[in-house]
Amino acid sequence: MAAAPPPVRAPLRFLLNGEPVAVTGIAPQTTLLEYLREHRRLTGTKEGCAEGDCGACTVVLAEPGDGGTPLRWRPVNACIRLLPSVAGRAVFTVESLAPAAGGLHPVQRALVDAHGSQCGFCTSGFAMSLFGLYKNAHRPPRAAIEDALAGNLCRCTGYRPIVAAAQAMYDIDPADGGGGWRGPGVAADGSRAVSRDEEALAVQLAALAAPDTLLYEADDRRWWAPRTCEALAAILVAHPAARIVAGATDVGLWITKQQRDLGDLVYTGDVGELARVRETPSHLAIGAAVALSDAFAALAASWPELAEAWARFASVPIRNSGTLGGNVANGSPIGDSLPVLLALGATVVLRRGAATREVPLEDFYVGYRQTVLAPSEFVVEVRVPARPPGTLVRAYKVSKRYDQDISAVFACLALVVAGGRIAAARIGCGGVAATPKRAAATEAALAGRAWDDATADAAARVLAAEFAPIDDMRASAAYRRTVLANLLRRFRMETGGAATPTRVEQVVAE
Ligand SMILES: Cc1cc2nc3c(=O)[nH]c(=O)nc-3n(C[C@H](O)[C@H](O)[C@H](O)COP(=O)(O)OP(=O)(O)OC[C@H]3O[C@@H](n4cnc5c(N)ncnc54)[C@H](O)[C@@H]3O)c2cc1C
Ligand code: FES
Ligand code: FES
Repeated sequence: MAAAPPPVRAPLRFLLNGEPVAVTGIAPQTTLLEYLREHRRLTGTKEGCAEGDCGACTVVLAEPGDGGTPLRWRPVNACIRLLPSVAGRAVFTVESLAPAAGGLHPVQRALVDAHGSQCGFCTSGFAMSLFGLYKNAHRPPRAAIEDALAGNLCRCTGYRPIVAAAQAMYDIDPADGGGGWRGPGVAADGSRAVSRDEEALAVQLAALAAPDTLLYEADDRRWWAPRTCEALAAILVAHPAARIVAGATDVGLWITKQQRDLGDLVYTGDVGELARVRETPSHLAIGAAVALSDAFAALAASWPELAEAWARFASVPIRNSGTLGGNVANGSPIGDSLPVLLALGATVVLRRGAATREVPLEDFYVGYRQTVLAPSEFVVEVRVPARPPGTLVRAYKVSKRYDQDISAVFACLALVVAGGRIAAARIGCGGVAATPKRAAATEAALAGRAWDDATADAAARVLAAEFAPIDDMRASAAYRRTVLANLLRRFRMETGGAATPTRVEQVVAE
Protein backbone atom coordinates (compact mmCIF):
# COMPACT_ATOMS: atom_id res chain seq x y z
CA MET A 1 0.00 0.00 0.00
CA ALA A 2 1.44 3.40 -1.00
CA ALA A 3 2.06 5.57 2.07
CA ALA A 4 -0.70 8.13 2.49
CA PRO A 5 0.42 11.67 3.39
CA PRO A 6 0.03 12.39 7.14
CA PRO A 7 -3.16 14.13 8.30
CA VAL A 8 -3.05 17.92 8.52
CA ARG A 9 -4.32 19.24 11.83
CA ALA A 10 -6.60 22.19 11.02
CA PRO A 11 -9.78 24.00 11.96
CA LEU A 12 -13.04 23.30 10.13
CA ARG A 13 -13.24 25.79 7.29
CA PHE A 14 -16.46 26.41 5.44
CA LEU A 15 -18.73 29.19 4.26
CA LEU A 16 -21.69 30.14 6.41
CA ASN A 17 -24.22 32.30 4.62
CA GLY A 18 -21.43 33.39 2.30
CA GLU A 19 -18.90 34.26 5.04
CA PRO A 20 -15.77 32.14 5.62
CA VAL A 21 -15.57 30.58 9.07
CA ALA A 22 -12.87 28.54 10.79
CA VAL A 23 -14.19 26.49 13.70
CA THR A 24 -12.02 25.29 16.56
CA GLY A 25 -12.77 23.97 20.02
CA ILE A 26 -16.20 22.45 19.28
CA ALA A 27 -16.55 18.68 19.75
CA PRO A 28 -16.61 16.72 16.46
CA GLN A 29 -19.92 15.06 17.23
CA THR A 30 -21.67 18.42 17.50
CA THR A 31 -24.53 18.64 15.05
CA LEU A 32 -24.75 21.40 12.50
CA LEU A 33 -28.04 22.50 14.09
CA GLU A 34 -26.46 22.80 17.53
CA TYR A 35 -23.67 24.87 16.04
CA LEU A 36 -26.06 27.17 14.16
CA ARG A 37 -28.41 27.75 17.05
CA GLU A 38 -26.15 27.56 20.12
CA HIS A 39 -22.89 28.91 18.78
CA ARG A 40 -24.02 31.29 16.03
CA ARG A 41 -27.48 32.25 17.29
CA LEU A 42 -28.91 31.55 13.83
CA THR A 43 -32.21 30.53 15.36
CA GLY A 44 -34.27 30.72 12.18
CA THR A 45 -33.31 27.08 11.72
CA LYS A 46 -35.62 25.22 14.10
CA GLU A 47 -35.37 22.01 16.07
CA GLY A 48 -38.51 19.90 15.92
CA CYS A 49 -37.73 16.20 16.15
CA ALA A 50 -33.90 16.09 16.15
CA GLU A 51 -34.08 12.90 14.11
CA GLY A 52 -34.43 13.94 10.49
CA ASP A 53 -38.18 13.45 10.34
CA CYS A 54 -39.81 16.90 10.43
CA GLY A 55 -37.67 19.17 8.25
CA ALA A 56 -37.80 22.16 10.64
CA CYS A 57 -33.99 22.21 10.62
CA THR A 58 -33.55 22.15 6.82
CA VAL A 59 -30.59 24.12 5.50
CA VAL A 60 -29.12 24.10 2.01
CA LEU A 61 -25.56 23.05 1.28
CA ALA A 62 -23.68 24.12 -1.82
CA GLU A 63 -21.04 21.52 -2.53
CA PRO A 64 -18.36 21.43 -5.20
CA GLY A 65 -20.02 20.09 -8.36
CA ASP A 66 -19.21 17.01 -10.39
CA GLY A 67 -17.81 18.69 -13.49
CA GLY A 68 -21.13 19.43 -15.17
CA THR A 69 -21.86 22.28 -12.79
CA PRO A 70 -19.66 24.27 -10.38
CA LEU A 71 -21.95 23.67 -7.40
CA ARG A 72 -24.59 21.21 -6.26
CA TRP A 73 -27.33 22.67 -4.10
CA ARG A 74 -28.70 20.21 -1.59
CA PRO A 75 -31.20 20.59 1.24
CA VAL A 76 -30.11 18.56 4.28
CA ASN A 77 -31.32 18.11 7.86
CA ALA A 78 -29.03 20.13 10.13
CA CYS A 79 -30.22 18.23 13.23
CA ILE A 80 -28.37 15.03 12.34
CA ARG A 81 -25.66 16.40 10.06
CA LEU A 82 -22.38 16.47 11.95
CA LEU A 83 -20.70 19.88 11.97
CA PRO A 84 -17.27 18.73 10.71
CA SER A 85 -18.90 17.16 7.63
CA VAL A 86 -19.66 20.62 6.20
CA ALA A 87 -15.96 21.52 5.98
CA GLY A 88 -15.20 22.61 2.41
CA ARG A 89 -18.89 23.32 1.71
CA ALA A 90 -21.14 26.36 1.82
CA VAL A 91 -24.01 26.32 4.34
CA PHE A 92 -27.03 28.53 3.71
CA THR A 93 -29.62 29.05 6.42
CA VAL A 94 -32.97 30.77 6.16
CA GLU A 95 -31.37 33.99 7.44
CA SER A 96 -29.47 34.29 4.16
CA LEU A 97 -32.42 33.89 1.82
CA ALA A 98 -33.70 37.46 1.80
CA PRO A 99 -31.27 39.90 0.17
CA ALA A 100 -29.43 42.20 2.58
CA ALA A 101 -30.80 45.21 0.71
CA GLY A 102 -34.31 44.25 1.85
CA GLY A 103 -37.29 42.48 0.34
CA LEU A 104 -38.00 38.79 0.17
CA HIS A 105 -36.61 35.91 -1.84
CA PRO A 106 -39.10 34.57 -4.45
CA VAL A 107 -39.55 31.46 -2.27
CA GLN A 108 -40.49 33.61 0.71
CA ARG A 109 -42.64 35.98 -1.35
CA ALA A 110 -44.55 33.01 -2.80
CA LEU A 111 -45.10 31.53 0.68
CA VAL A 112 -46.47 34.86 1.92
CA ASP A 113 -48.69 35.40 -1.11
CA ALA A 114 -50.08 31.84 -1.02
CA HIS A 115 -50.72 32.01 2.77
CA GLY A 116 -48.30 29.12 3.20
CA SER A 117 -47.59 29.77 6.89
CA GLN A 118 -49.57 30.00 10.13
CA CYS A 119 -47.65 29.44 13.38
CA GLY A 120 -44.46 29.58 11.31
CA PHE A 121 -42.49 26.93 13.19
CA CYS A 122 -42.15 24.76 10.11
CA THR A 123 -41.87 27.64 7.67
CA SER A 124 -38.13 28.22 7.58
CA GLY A 125 -37.66 24.50 6.87
CA PHE A 126 -40.21 24.64 4.07
CA ALA A 127 -38.57 27.77 2.68
CA MET A 128 -35.20 26.01 2.54
CA SER A 129 -36.65 22.86 0.93
CA LEU A 130 -38.34 25.11 -1.62
CA PHE A 131 -35.09 26.98 -2.15
CA GLY A 132 -33.42 23.63 -2.83
CA LEU A 133 -36.11 22.89 -5.42
CA TYR A 134 -35.70 26.39 -6.90
CA LYS A 135 -32.01 25.69 -7.44
CA ASN A 136 -32.55 22.23 -8.94
CA ALA A 137 -35.66 22.42 -11.12
CA HIS A 138 -37.66 24.81 -13.24
CA ARG A 139 -41.44 24.52 -12.86
CA PRO A 140 -41.33 20.86 -11.88
CA PRO A 141 -44.48 18.72 -12.00
CA ARG A 142 -46.60 18.46 -8.87
CA ALA A 143 -45.18 15.02 -8.03
CA ALA A 144 -41.67 16.50 -7.90
CA ILE A 145 -42.90 19.30 -5.62
CA GLU A 146 -44.51 16.76 -3.30
CA ASP A 147 -41.28 14.77 -3.30
CA ALA A 148 -39.28 17.89 -2.43
CA LEU A 149 -41.61 18.59 0.51
CA ALA A 150 -42.09 15.02 1.77
CA GLY A 151 -39.50 15.59 4.51
CA ASN A 152 -41.19 18.71 5.89
CA LEU A 153 -44.05 18.47 8.36
CA CYS A 154 -46.59 21.23 8.87
CA ARG A 155 -49.19 20.80 11.55
CA CYS A 156 -51.34 23.87 10.98
CA THR A 157 -51.27 25.36 7.49
CA GLY A 158 -51.95 22.32 5.34
CA TYR A 159 -49.96 21.51 2.27
CA ARG A 160 -52.19 22.95 -0.45
CA PRO A 161 -51.00 26.57 -0.05
CA ILE A 162 -47.40 25.46 0.33
CA VAL A 163 -47.60 23.48 -2.90
CA ALA A 164 -49.24 26.54 -4.50
CA ALA A 165 -46.24 28.62 -3.33
CA ALA A 166 -43.89 26.08 -4.92
CA GLN A 167 -45.72 26.48 -8.20
CA ALA A 168 -45.84 30.29 -7.97
CA MET A 169 -42.23 30.94 -6.95
CA TYR A 170 -41.05 30.66 -10.55
CA ASP A 171 -43.39 33.50 -11.59
CA ILE A 172 -41.62 36.02 -9.35
CA ASP A 173 -38.82 38.05 -10.92
CA PRO A 174 -35.59 36.61 -9.44
CA ALA A 175 -34.08 40.09 -9.46
CA ASP A 176 -36.64 41.08 -6.80
CA GLY A 177 -35.07 38.46 -4.57
CA GLY A 178 -31.52 39.64 -5.04
CA GLY A 179 -30.42 37.43 -7.98
CA GLY A 180 -26.84 36.12 -7.82
CA TRP A 181 -26.52 32.82 -5.95
CA ARG A 182 -30.11 33.29 -4.79
CA GLY A 183 -31.32 33.09 -8.39
CA PRO A 184 -32.90 30.03 -10.01
CA GLY A 185 -30.54 27.12 -10.67
CA VAL A 186 -32.26 25.90 -13.84
CA ALA A 187 -33.23 28.05 -16.81
CA ALA A 188 -36.59 27.81 -18.59
CA ASP A 189 -35.02 25.60 -21.29
CA GLY A 190 -33.85 23.13 -18.65
CA SER A 191 -30.15 24.08 -18.78
CA ARG A 192 -28.27 24.91 -15.58
CA ALA A 193 -28.34 28.61 -14.77
CA VAL A 194 -25.02 29.47 -13.20
CA SER A 195 -24.54 33.03 -11.97
CA ARG A 196 -21.18 34.75 -11.51
CA ASP A 197 -21.80 34.60 -7.77
CA GLU A 198 -21.99 30.82 -7.97
CA GLU A 199 -18.79 30.60 -9.94
CA ALA A 200 -17.15 32.80 -7.32
CA LEU A 201 -18.54 30.57 -4.56
CA ALA A 202 -17.11 27.50 -6.27
CA VAL A 203 -13.68 29.18 -6.42
CA GLN A 204 -13.91 30.06 -2.72
CA LEU A 205 -14.82 26.46 -1.88
CA ALA A 206 -11.95 25.09 -3.93
CA ALA A 207 -9.60 27.29 -1.91
CA LEU A 208 -11.06 25.93 1.35
CA ALA A 209 -10.67 22.27 0.41
CA ALA A 210 -8.12 20.45 2.54
CA PRO A 211 -5.37 19.08 0.23
CA ASP A 212 -4.84 15.94 2.29
CA THR A 213 -6.51 14.26 5.24
CA LEU A 214 -8.03 16.82 7.57
CA LEU A 215 -7.54 16.09 11.25
CA TYR A 216 -9.85 18.15 13.42
CA GLU A 217 -9.45 17.72 17.15
CA ALA A 218 -11.54 19.14 19.98
CA ASP A 219 -12.86 18.02 23.36
CA ASP A 220 -10.41 15.09 23.36
CA ARG A 221 -12.03 13.62 20.26
CA ARG A 222 -10.68 13.37 16.71
CA TRP A 223 -12.30 13.67 13.29
CA TRP A 224 -10.38 12.50 10.27
CA ALA A 225 -11.56 13.42 6.80
CA PRO A 226 -9.30 11.58 4.34
CA ARG A 227 -9.47 12.35 0.61
CA THR A 228 -8.26 9.02 -0.78
CA CYS A 229 -9.00 5.34 -0.15
CA GLU A 230 -5.32 4.85 0.73
CA ALA A 231 -5.54 7.43 3.48
CA LEU A 232 -8.88 6.07 4.75
CA ALA A 233 -7.49 2.53 4.88
CA ALA A 234 -4.35 3.70 6.71
CA ILE A 235 -6.32 5.64 9.34
CA LEU A 236 -8.64 2.71 10.02
CA VAL A 237 -5.70 0.31 10.40
CA ALA A 238 -3.91 2.72 12.74
CA HIS A 239 -7.10 3.48 14.73
CA PRO A 240 -9.32 0.37 14.65
CA ALA A 241 -11.60 1.76 17.37
CA ALA A 242 -12.47 4.86 15.34
CA ARG A 243 -15.99 4.84 13.94
CA ILE A 244 -16.75 5.39 10.27
CA VAL A 245 -19.29 8.13 9.55
CA ALA A 246 -20.78 8.86 6.15
CA GLY A 247 -24.03 10.87 5.97
CA ALA A 248 -24.78 10.33 9.70
CA THR A 249 -28.46 9.73 8.98
CA ASP A 250 -28.21 6.65 11.18
CA VAL A 251 -25.22 7.68 13.32
CA GLY A 252 -26.65 11.16 13.99
CA LEU A 253 -29.58 9.63 15.88
CA TRP A 254 -27.24 7.74 18.18
CA ILE A 255 -26.07 11.20 19.28
CA THR A 256 -29.34 13.12 19.38
CA LYS A 257 -31.59 10.33 20.67
CA GLN A 258 -29.28 8.03 22.60
CA GLN A 259 -26.80 10.68 23.79
CA ARG A 260 -23.94 8.35 22.94
CA ASP A 261 -20.32 9.43 22.90
CA LEU A 262 -19.11 8.05 19.57
CA GLY A 263 -15.41 8.54 20.23
CA ASP A 264 -13.08 9.25 17.33
CA LEU A 265 -14.72 9.52 13.91
CA VAL A 266 -13.51 8.90 10.36
CA TYR A 267 -15.52 10.63 7.65
CA THR A 268 -15.89 9.03 4.21
CA GLY A 269 -17.65 11.95 2.49
CA ASP A 270 -14.48 13.57 1.17
CA VAL A 271 -12.92 10.39 -0.28
CA GLY A 272 -13.12 11.02 -4.03
CA GLU A 273 -12.98 7.32 -5.02
CA LEU A 274 -15.87 6.47 -2.70
CA ALA A 275 -18.03 9.31 -3.98
CA ARG A 276 -18.28 8.27 -7.62
CA VAL A 277 -20.46 6.03 -9.76
CA ARG A 278 -18.76 3.98 -12.51
CA GLU A 279 -20.46 2.06 -15.25
CA THR A 280 -18.60 -0.89 -16.74
CA PRO A 281 -19.89 -3.39 -19.35
CA SER A 282 -20.54 -5.93 -16.60
CA HIS A 283 -21.78 -3.81 -13.70
CA LEU A 284 -22.59 -0.48 -12.13
CA ALA A 285 -20.18 0.35 -9.31
CA ILE A 286 -21.59 2.75 -6.73
CA GLY A 287 -19.02 4.13 -4.30
CA ALA A 288 -19.88 3.69 -0.62
CA ALA A 289 -20.02 7.45 -0.03
CA VAL A 290 -22.29 8.22 -2.98
CA ALA A 291 -25.37 10.02 -1.66
CA LEU A 292 -28.56 7.99 -1.86
CA SER A 293 -30.01 10.62 -4.24
CA ASP A 294 -27.21 9.98 -6.74
CA ALA A 295 -27.11 6.22 -6.18
CA PHE A 296 -30.84 5.92 -6.80
CA ALA A 297 -30.63 8.10 -9.93
CA ALA A 298 -27.87 5.84 -11.27
CA LEU A 299 -29.87 2.69 -10.50
CA ALA A 300 -33.08 4.14 -11.96
CA ALA A 301 -31.34 4.69 -15.31
CA SER A 302 -31.13 0.91 -15.83
CA TRP A 303 -34.02 -0.05 -13.57
CA PRO A 304 -36.72 2.62 -14.03
CA GLU A 305 -39.26 0.32 -12.36
CA LEU A 306 -37.56 1.08 -9.03
CA ALA A 307 -38.21 4.83 -9.09
CA GLU A 308 -41.24 4.68 -6.79
CA ALA A 309 -39.37 2.66 -4.17
CA TRP A 310 -36.56 5.21 -4.16
CA ALA A 311 -38.94 8.15 -3.87
CA ARG A 312 -40.39 6.46 -0.80
CA PHE A 313 -36.98 6.03 0.83
CA ALA A 314 -36.88 8.73 3.52
CA SER A 315 -36.99 12.27 2.07
CA VAL A 316 -34.92 14.48 -0.21
CA PRO A 317 -32.76 15.93 2.62
CA ILE A 318 -32.07 12.46 4.06
CA ARG A 319 -31.26 11.06 0.61
CA ASN A 320 -28.89 14.00 0.05
CA SER A 321 -26.86 13.19 3.19
CA GLY A 322 -27.33 9.43 3.57
CA THR A 323 -25.22 7.08 1.47
CA LEU A 324 -25.70 3.68 -0.11
CA GLY A 325 -22.63 2.40 1.76
CA GLY A 326 -24.20 3.55 5.04
CA ASN A 327 -27.45 1.71 4.30
CA VAL A 328 -25.54 -1.46 3.43
CA ALA A 329 -23.08 -1.31 6.35
CA ASN A 330 -25.73 -0.38 8.89
CA GLY A 331 -27.34 -3.73 8.13
CA SER A 332 -30.84 -2.96 9.34
CA PRO A 333 -33.33 -5.77 8.57
CA ILE A 334 -35.60 -2.99 7.28
CA GLY A 335 -32.99 -1.14 5.23
CA ASP A 336 -34.82 -0.44 1.99
CA SER A 337 -31.98 -0.64 -0.52
CA LEU A 338 -30.98 -4.12 0.62
CA PRO A 339 -33.87 -6.24 -0.74
CA VAL A 340 -33.39 -4.46 -4.06
CA LEU A 341 -29.66 -5.04 -4.12
CA LEU A 342 -30.21 -8.70 -3.16
CA ALA A 343 -32.69 -9.16 -6.00
CA LEU A 344 -30.34 -7.50 -8.48
CA GLY A 345 -27.46 -9.78 -7.47
CA ALA A 346 -25.25 -7.07 -5.97
CA THR A 347 -21.86 -7.66 -4.40
CA VAL A 348 -19.94 -5.44 -2.00
CA VAL A 349 -16.25 -4.65 -2.30
CA LEU A 350 -14.53 -4.44 1.08
CA ARG A 351 -11.09 -3.19 1.95
CA ARG A 352 -8.79 -3.51 4.95
CA GLY A 353 -5.33 -2.00 4.60
CA ALA A 354 -4.23 -2.94 1.08
CA ALA A 355 -6.39 -6.10 0.93
CA THR A 356 -9.71 -6.07 -0.87
CA ARG A 357 -12.39 -8.73 -1.23
CA GLU A 358 -15.70 -8.94 -3.04
CA VAL A 359 -18.60 -10.51 -1.16
CA PRO A 360 -22.10 -11.32 -2.48
CA LEU A 361 -24.54 -9.16 -0.52
CA GLU A 362 -26.41 -12.24 0.76
CA ASP A 363 -23.20 -13.37 2.48
CA PHE A 364 -22.49 -9.94 3.96
CA TYR A 365 -25.05 -10.22 6.79
CA VAL A 366 -24.41 -12.81 9.48
CA GLY A 367 -26.96 -11.87 12.14
CA TYR A 368 -29.11 -9.05 13.44
CA ARG A 369 -27.18 -5.91 12.47
CA GLN A 370 -24.04 -8.02 12.12
CA THR A 371 -21.90 -8.13 9.01
CA VAL A 372 -18.71 -9.84 7.91
CA LEU A 373 -16.82 -6.52 8.17
CA ALA A 374 -13.61 -7.10 10.15
CA PRO A 375 -12.10 -4.40 12.40
CA SER A 376 -10.55 -1.63 10.22
CA GLU A 377 -12.40 -2.94 7.15
CA PHE A 378 -14.72 -0.69 5.18
CA VAL A 379 -17.13 -0.86 2.26
CA VAL A 380 -15.55 0.56 -0.90
CA GLU A 381 -18.39 0.12 -3.36
CA VAL A 382 -21.53 -1.78 -4.22
CA ARG A 383 -21.54 -3.56 -7.59
CA VAL A 384 -24.80 -4.16 -9.37
CA PRO A 385 -24.62 -6.49 -12.40
CA ALA A 386 -25.78 -5.07 -15.73
CA ARG A 387 -29.43 -5.77 -16.47
CA PRO A 388 -29.92 -9.15 -18.20
CA PRO A 389 -32.27 -9.03 -21.21
CA GLY A 390 -35.78 -10.22 -20.38
CA THR A 391 -35.66 -9.09 -16.74
CA LEU A 392 -38.92 -8.30 -15.00
CA VAL A 393 -38.45 -6.36 -11.78
CA ARG A 394 -40.60 -4.60 -9.20
CA ALA A 395 -39.96 -3.31 -5.69
CA TYR A 396 -42.66 -2.90 -3.04
CA LYS A 397 -42.48 -0.96 0.21
CA VAL A 398 -45.28 -1.65 2.64
CA SER A 399 -45.54 0.96 5.38
CA LYS A 400 -48.23 2.84 7.24
CA ARG A 401 -47.56 6.15 5.43
CA TYR A 402 -46.71 6.53 1.78
CA ASP A 403 -43.91 9.06 2.34
CA GLN A 404 -41.08 9.10 4.85
CA ASP A 405 -41.97 5.96 6.77
CA ILE A 406 -40.19 2.83 7.95
CA SER A 407 -41.02 -0.38 6.10
CA ALA A 408 -43.07 -3.10 7.74
CA VAL A 409 -42.18 -5.29 4.76
CA PHE A 410 -40.13 -4.60 1.66
CA ALA A 411 -39.85 -6.98 -1.28
CA CYS A 412 -38.02 -6.78 -4.56
CA LEU A 413 -38.68 -9.46 -7.19
CA ALA A 414 -36.53 -9.97 -10.28
CA LEU A 415 -37.19 -12.66 -12.86
CA VAL A 416 -35.36 -13.30 -16.09
CA VAL A 417 -37.99 -14.66 -18.45
CA ALA A 418 -37.05 -16.28 -21.78
CA GLY A 419 -39.60 -17.89 -24.08
CA GLY A 420 -42.27 -17.57 -21.40
CA ARG A 421 -40.20 -19.55 -18.86
CA ILE A 422 -38.40 -18.29 -15.79
CA ALA A 423 -34.69 -18.66 -16.49
CA ALA A 424 -33.61 -17.07 -13.18
CA ALA A 425 -35.41 -15.78 -10.09
CA ARG A 426 -34.11 -13.60 -7.27
CA ILE A 427 -36.27 -12.21 -4.49
CA GLY A 428 -34.96 -9.87 -1.79
CA CYS A 429 -37.05 -9.39 1.35
CA GLY A 430 -36.87 -6.96 4.27
CA GLY A 431 -38.81 -6.86 7.53
CA VAL A 432 -39.37 -10.62 7.72
CA ALA A 433 -36.15 -11.88 9.35
CA ALA A 434 -33.23 -10.67 11.48
CA THR A 435 -31.38 -9.64 8.33
CA PRO A 436 -32.40 -8.73 4.80
CA LYS A 437 -32.84 -12.12 3.07
CA ARG A 438 -33.26 -13.82 -0.26
CA ALA A 439 -36.35 -15.99 -0.52
CA ALA A 440 -34.41 -19.05 -1.66
CA ALA A 441 -37.27 -21.59 -1.46
CA THR A 442 -39.59 -19.34 -3.44
CA GLU A 443 -36.90 -18.67 -6.02
CA ALA A 444 -36.53 -22.45 -6.42
CA ALA A 445 -40.31 -22.78 -6.82
CA LEU A 446 -40.20 -20.28 -9.67
CA ALA A 447 -37.06 -21.31 -11.56
CA GLY A 448 -37.69 -23.21 -14.78
CA ARG A 449 -41.50 -22.77 -14.64
CA ALA A 450 -43.75 -20.96 -17.07
CA TRP A 451 -44.40 -17.39 -15.83
CA ASP A 452 -48.16 -17.60 -15.42
CA ASP A 453 -50.85 -17.18 -12.76
CA ALA A 454 -50.61 -20.79 -11.57
CA THR A 455 -46.84 -20.56 -11.01
CA ALA A 456 -47.22 -17.21 -9.24
CA ASP A 457 -49.93 -18.58 -6.95
CA ALA A 458 -47.95 -21.69 -6.07
CA ALA A 459 -44.84 -19.60 -5.41
CA ALA A 460 -46.84 -17.14 -3.28
CA ARG A 461 -47.86 -20.03 -1.03
CA VAL A 462 -44.20 -21.00 -0.64
CA LEU A 463 -43.29 -17.38 0.11
CA ALA A 464 -46.00 -17.10 2.78
CA ALA A 465 -44.33 -19.96 4.67
CA GLU A 466 -40.68 -19.14 3.94
CA PHE A 467 -39.95 -16.73 6.81
CA ALA A 468 -40.84 -16.55 10.50
CA PRO A 469 -41.21 -12.79 11.03
CA ILE A 470 -41.92 -11.21 14.39
CA ASP A 471 -44.89 -9.22 15.70
CA ASP A 472 -43.98 -5.63 16.46
CA MET A 473 -45.58 -2.20 16.48
CA ARG A 474 -45.29 -1.95 12.69
CA ALA A 475 -47.05 -5.18 11.78
CA SER A 476 -47.98 -8.61 13.05
CA ALA A 477 -46.11 -11.71 11.89
CA ALA A 478 -49.27 -13.00 10.20
CA TYR A 479 -49.72 -9.72 8.32
CA ARG A 480 -46.11 -9.76 7.16
CA ARG A 481 -46.41 -13.31 5.81
CA THR A 482 -49.71 -12.59 4.06
CA VAL A 483 -48.62 -9.29 2.54
CA LEU A 484 -45.37 -10.79 1.28
CA ALA A 485 -47.24 -13.55 -0.56
CA ASN A 486 -49.69 -11.00 -1.97
CA LEU A 487 -46.81 -8.87 -3.26
CA LEU A 488 -45.76 -11.80 -5.41
CA ARG A 489 -49.32 -12.06 -6.76
CA ARG A 490 -49.27 -8.33 -7.42
CA PHE A 491 -45.97 -8.69 -9.23
CA ARG A 492 -47.64 -11.29 -11.47
CA MET A 493 -50.56 -8.92 -12.15
CA GLU A 494 -48.22 -6.07 -13.01
CA THR A 495 -45.94 -8.08 -15.27
CA GLY A 496 -48.50 -10.51 -16.69
CA GLY A 497 -50.58 -7.94 -18.54
CA ALA A 498 -53.55 -7.71 -16.12
CA ALA A 499 -55.45 -4.44 -16.56
CA THR A 500 -56.37 -4.12 -12.85
CA PRO A 501 -54.75 -1.05 -11.25
CA THR A 502 -52.26 -2.04 -8.57
CA ARG A 503 -50.82 1.32 -7.54
CA VAL A 504 -52.46 4.08 -5.51
CA GLU A 505 -51.51 6.69 -8.13
CA GLN A 506 -53.29 4.72 -10.85
CA VAL A 507 -56.45 4.64 -8.78
CA VAL A 508 -56.17 8.36 -7.97
CA ALA A 509 -55.57 9.16 -11.65
CA GLU A 510 -58.68 7.18 -12.62
C1 LIG B 1 -35.77 10.48 8.92
C2 LIG B 1 -35.08 9.25 8.42
C3 LIG B 1 -35.71 8.46 7.48
C4 LIG B 1 -35.08 7.30 7.02
N1 LIG B 1 -35.74 6.54 6.11
C5 LIG B 1 -35.17 5.41 5.67
C6 LIG B 1 -35.85 4.59 4.73
O1 LIG B 1 -36.94 4.92 4.25
N2 LIG B 1 -35.26 3.43 4.37
C7 LIG B 1 -34.04 3.05 4.87
O2 LIG B 1 -33.54 2.00 4.50
N3 LIG B 1 -33.37 3.82 5.72
C8 LIG B 1 -33.90 4.98 6.15
N4 LIG B 1 -33.22 5.76 7.04
C9 LIG B 1 -31.90 5.33 7.55
C10 LIG B 1 -30.68 5.96 6.86
O3 LIG B 1 -31.01 7.12 6.17
C11 LIG B 1 -30.01 5.01 5.88
O4 LIG B 1 -29.66 3.81 6.53
C12 LIG B 1 -28.76 5.61 5.22
O5 LIG B 1 -28.48 4.90 4.05
C13 LIG B 1 -27.54 5.59 6.13
O6 LIG B 1 -26.45 6.13 5.41
P1 LIG B 1 -25.47 7.18 6.11
O7 LIG B 1 -24.47 7.55 5.09
O8 LIG B 1 -26.22 8.27 6.72
O9 LIG B 1 -24.82 6.26 7.23
P2 LIG B 1 -24.16 6.67 8.61
O10 LIG B 1 -25.22 7.06 9.57
O11 LIG B 1 -23.06 7.63 8.41
O12 LIG B 1 -23.54 5.26 9.03
C14 LIG B 1 -24.38 4.14 9.27
C15 LIG B 1 -23.50 2.95 9.66
O13 LIG B 1 -22.75 2.51 8.55
C16 LIG B 1 -21.36 2.53 8.83
N5 LIG B 1 -20.69 2.92 7.59
C17 LIG B 1 -21.00 3.99 6.79
N6 LIG B 1 -20.23 3.95 5.68
C18 LIG B 1 -19.42 2.86 5.79
C19 LIG B 1 -18.41 2.30 4.96
N7 LIG B 1 -18.05 2.83 3.80
N8 LIG B 1 -17.80 1.16 5.37
C20 LIG B 1 -18.15 0.57 6.54
N9 LIG B 1 -19.09 1.07 7.38
C21 LIG B 1 -19.72 2.20 7.00
C22 LIG B 1 -21.20 3.52 9.98
O14 LIG B 1 -20.05 3.24 10.75
C23 LIG B 1 -22.48 3.25 10.75
O15 LIG B 1 -22.33 2.10 11.54
C24 LIG B 1 -33.80 6.94 7.51
C25 LIG B 1 -33.16 7.75 8.44
C26 LIG B 1 -33.78 8.90 8.90
C27 LIG B 1 -33.08 9.75 9.91
S1 FES C 1 -35.38 18.82 13.70
FE1 FES C 1 -36.82 17.54 12.69
S2 FES C 1 -35.75 17.02 10.89
FE2 FES C 1 -34.31 18.08 12.03
S1 FES D 1 -47.32 26.76 10.04
FE1 FES D 1 -47.47 25.83 11.98
S2 FES D 1 -46.46 23.93 11.75
FE2 FES D 1 -46.54 24.73 9.77
